[in-house]
Amino acid sequence: MGNLIRDLRAEHTYMSEVLDLIEAQLDRIEAGEPPDYELLQDAVYFMTEYPDLFHHPRENLVYRRMMQRHRKHRSSVRALEKDHARLGALGLAFREVVEDTVEDVPVERSALLARGREYLDAQRGHIADEETRIFPMVEEVLNDADWRAIDSTVSGAGPVGLREITRSRFRTLHDVLHGEA
Ligand SMILES: [Fe+2]
Repeated sequence: MGNLIRDLRAEHTYMSEVLDLIEAQLDRIEAGEPPDYELLQDAVYFMTEYPDLFHHPRENLVYRRMMQRHRKHRSSVRALEKDHARLGALGLAFREVVEDTVEDVPVERSALLARGREYLDAQRGHIADEETRIFPMVEEVLNDADWRAIDSTVSGAGPVGLREITRSRFRTLHDVLHGEA
Protein backbone atom coordinates (compact mmCIF):
# COMPACT_ATOMS: atom_id res chain seq x y z
CA MET A 1 0.00 0.00 0.00
CA GLY A 2 1.22 3.48 -0.76
CA ASN A 3 2.12 6.30 1.57
CA LEU A 4 -0.18 8.57 -0.34
CA ILE A 5 -3.39 6.66 0.38
CA ARG A 6 -2.49 6.67 4.06
CA ASP A 7 -1.98 10.44 3.92
CA LEU A 8 -5.24 10.92 2.02
CA ARG A 9 -7.11 8.99 4.71
CA ALA A 10 -5.51 11.05 7.48
CA GLU A 11 -6.40 14.21 5.57
CA HIS A 12 -10.02 13.07 5.37
CA THR A 13 -10.04 12.74 9.16
CA TYR A 14 -8.59 16.21 9.51
CA MET A 15 -11.04 17.70 6.99
CA SER A 16 -13.93 15.99 8.79
CA GLU A 17 -12.91 17.71 12.03
CA VAL A 18 -12.96 21.05 10.24
CA LEU A 19 -16.42 20.23 8.81
CA ASP A 20 -17.63 19.45 12.36
CA LEU A 21 -16.40 22.87 13.50
CA ILE A 22 -18.28 24.51 10.63
CA GLU A 23 -21.41 22.58 11.55
CA ALA A 24 -21.17 23.67 15.19
CA GLN A 25 -21.08 27.31 14.06
CA LEU A 26 -24.04 26.80 11.71
CA ASP A 27 -25.94 25.20 14.61
CA ARG A 28 -25.26 28.29 16.71
CA ILE A 29 -26.51 30.57 13.95
CA GLU A 30 -29.62 28.44 13.53
CA ALA A 31 -30.26 28.54 17.29
CA GLY A 32 -29.92 32.34 17.28
CA GLU A 33 -26.67 32.23 19.25
CA PRO A 34 -23.67 34.32 18.26
CA PRO A 35 -21.25 32.23 16.20
CA ASP A 36 -17.49 32.63 16.09
CA TYR A 37 -17.26 34.21 12.67
CA GLU A 38 -13.48 34.34 12.76
CA LEU A 39 -13.37 30.58 13.24
CA LEU A 40 -16.07 29.99 10.61
CA GLN A 41 -14.22 32.12 8.09
CA ASP A 42 -10.91 30.40 8.81
CA ALA A 43 -12.50 26.95 8.52
CA VAL A 44 -14.25 27.80 5.25
CA TYR A 45 -11.07 29.31 3.81
CA PHE A 46 -9.13 26.24 4.81
CA MET A 47 -11.70 23.97 3.18
CA THR A 48 -11.85 25.94 -0.06
CA GLU A 49 -8.09 26.19 -0.35
CA TYR A 50 -6.60 23.03 1.02
CA PRO A 51 -8.74 20.26 -0.55
CA ASP A 52 -9.06 22.02 -3.90
CA LEU A 53 -5.41 22.84 -4.26
CA PHE A 54 -3.67 19.90 -2.59
CA HIS A 55 -5.95 17.06 -1.60
CA HIS A 56 -8.17 16.50 -4.65
CA PRO A 57 -5.40 16.78 -7.27
CA ARG A 58 -3.47 14.01 -5.44
CA GLU A 59 -6.58 11.85 -5.28
CA ASN A 60 -7.15 12.46 -8.98
CA LEU A 61 -3.65 11.16 -9.66
CA VAL A 62 -4.42 7.90 -7.86
CA TYR A 63 -7.76 7.56 -9.67
CA ARG A 64 -6.15 8.17 -13.06
CA ARG A 65 -3.68 5.39 -12.38
CA MET A 66 -6.57 3.09 -11.48
CA MET A 67 -8.27 4.01 -14.74
CA GLN A 68 -5.10 3.20 -16.68
CA ARG A 69 -4.99 -0.24 -15.08
CA HIS A 70 -8.61 -1.03 -15.84
CA ARG A 71 -10.69 0.94 -18.27
CA LYS A 72 -13.85 -0.31 -16.56
CA HIS A 73 -13.17 2.26 -13.80
CA ARG A 74 -13.31 5.08 -16.31
CA SER A 75 -16.85 6.23 -15.47
CA SER A 76 -16.23 6.11 -11.70
CA VAL A 77 -13.07 8.15 -12.09
CA ARG A 78 -14.75 10.71 -14.33
CA ALA A 79 -17.58 11.00 -11.77
CA LEU A 80 -15.09 11.54 -8.93
CA GLU A 81 -13.25 14.26 -10.81
CA LYS A 82 -16.55 15.96 -11.55
CA ASP A 83 -17.47 15.69 -7.89
CA HIS A 84 -14.21 17.37 -6.89
CA ALA A 85 -15.04 20.27 -9.20
CA ARG A 86 -18.60 20.42 -7.77
CA LEU A 87 -17.24 20.52 -4.19
CA GLY A 88 -14.92 23.35 -5.19
CA ALA A 89 -17.83 25.36 -6.59
CA LEU A 90 -20.06 24.69 -3.56
CA GLY A 91 -17.24 25.70 -1.24
CA LEU A 92 -16.67 28.99 -3.05
CA ALA A 93 -20.40 29.74 -3.01
CA PHE A 94 -20.50 29.11 0.74
CA ARG A 95 -17.34 31.14 1.30
CA GLU A 96 -18.91 34.05 -0.56
CA VAL A 97 -21.94 34.24 1.77
CA VAL A 98 -19.70 33.85 4.83
CA GLU A 99 -17.51 36.73 3.59
CA ASP A 100 -20.57 38.88 2.87
CA THR A 101 -21.92 38.19 6.35
CA VAL A 102 -18.60 39.09 7.99
CA GLU A 103 -18.38 42.27 5.90
CA ASP A 104 -21.93 43.27 6.90
CA VAL A 105 -23.36 42.84 3.43
CA PRO A 106 -27.02 41.94 4.11
CA VAL A 107 -27.37 38.17 3.86
CA GLU A 108 -30.43 36.14 4.76
CA ARG A 109 -29.59 33.83 7.64
CA SER A 110 -31.49 31.10 5.79
CA ALA A 111 -29.26 31.55 2.71
CA LEU A 112 -26.10 31.24 4.79
CA LEU A 113 -27.43 28.12 6.50
CA ALA A 114 -28.66 26.55 3.27
CA ARG A 115 -25.30 27.05 1.49
CA GLY A 116 -23.43 25.80 4.51
CA ARG A 117 -25.55 22.70 5.05
CA GLU A 118 -25.45 21.87 1.36
CA TYR A 119 -21.68 22.13 1.44
CA LEU A 120 -21.35 19.95 4.54
CA ASP A 121 -23.63 17.27 3.08
CA ALA A 122 -21.72 17.23 -0.19
CA GLN A 123 -18.29 17.04 1.45
CA ARG A 124 -19.28 14.37 3.94
CA GLY A 125 -21.06 12.29 1.32
CA HIS A 126 -18.03 12.49 -0.94
CA ILE A 127 -15.54 11.57 1.79
CA ALA A 128 -17.73 8.66 2.95
CA ASP A 129 -17.99 7.35 -0.61
CA GLU A 130 -14.23 7.49 -1.05
CA GLU A 131 -13.53 5.85 2.28
CA THR A 132 -16.04 3.02 1.94
CA ARG A 133 -16.15 2.34 -1.81
CA ILE A 134 -13.36 4.05 -3.73
CA PHE A 135 -10.25 3.65 -1.58
CA PRO A 136 -10.80 -0.11 -1.06
CA MET A 137 -11.24 -0.43 -4.84
CA VAL A 138 -8.03 1.54 -5.44
CA GLU A 139 -6.13 -0.70 -3.04
CA GLU A 140 -7.38 -3.76 -4.84
CA VAL A 141 -6.47 -2.51 -8.30
CA LEU A 142 -3.09 -0.85 -7.74
CA ASN A 143 0.03 -2.87 -7.05
CA ASP A 144 3.26 -1.97 -5.26
CA ALA A 145 4.88 -0.69 -8.45
CA ASP A 146 1.93 1.64 -9.00
CA TRP A 147 2.26 3.00 -5.48
CA ARG A 148 5.99 3.49 -5.82
CA ALA A 149 5.40 5.40 -9.05
CA ILE A 150 2.70 7.53 -7.46
CA ASP A 151 4.63 8.20 -4.27
CA SER A 152 7.67 9.30 -6.27
CA THR A 153 5.70 11.95 -8.15
CA VAL A 154 3.87 13.63 -5.27
CA SER A 155 4.93 15.21 -2.08
CA GLY A 156 2.14 14.52 0.34
CA ALA A 157 0.92 17.00 2.89
CA GLY A 158 -0.43 14.41 5.31
CA PRO A 159 -1.56 15.23 8.84
CA VAL A 160 1.71 16.88 9.86
CA GLY A 161 1.69 19.06 6.75
CA LEU A 162 -1.93 20.03 7.37
CA ARG A 163 -1.20 21.04 10.91
CA GLU A 164 1.65 23.17 9.65
CA ILE A 165 -0.59 24.84 7.04
CA THR A 166 -3.24 25.68 9.64
CA ARG A 167 -0.61 26.88 12.12
CA SER A 168 0.92 29.32 9.68
CA ARG A 169 -2.17 30.46 7.79
CA PHE A 170 -5.32 29.73 9.78
CA ARG A 171 -4.44 30.73 13.31
CA THR A 172 -7.93 30.69 14.83
CA LEU A 173 -8.74 27.34 13.26
CA HIS A 174 -5.39 25.95 14.40
CA ASP A 175 -5.87 27.07 18.00
CA VAL A 176 -9.33 25.49 18.22
CA LEU A 177 -8.40 22.26 16.41
CA HIS A 178 -5.22 21.75 18.35
CA GLY A 179 -6.44 22.90 21.72
CA GLU A 180 -4.37 26.05 21.98
CA ALA A 181 -7.28 28.49 22.32
FE1 LIG B 1 -12.16 13.05 -3.20
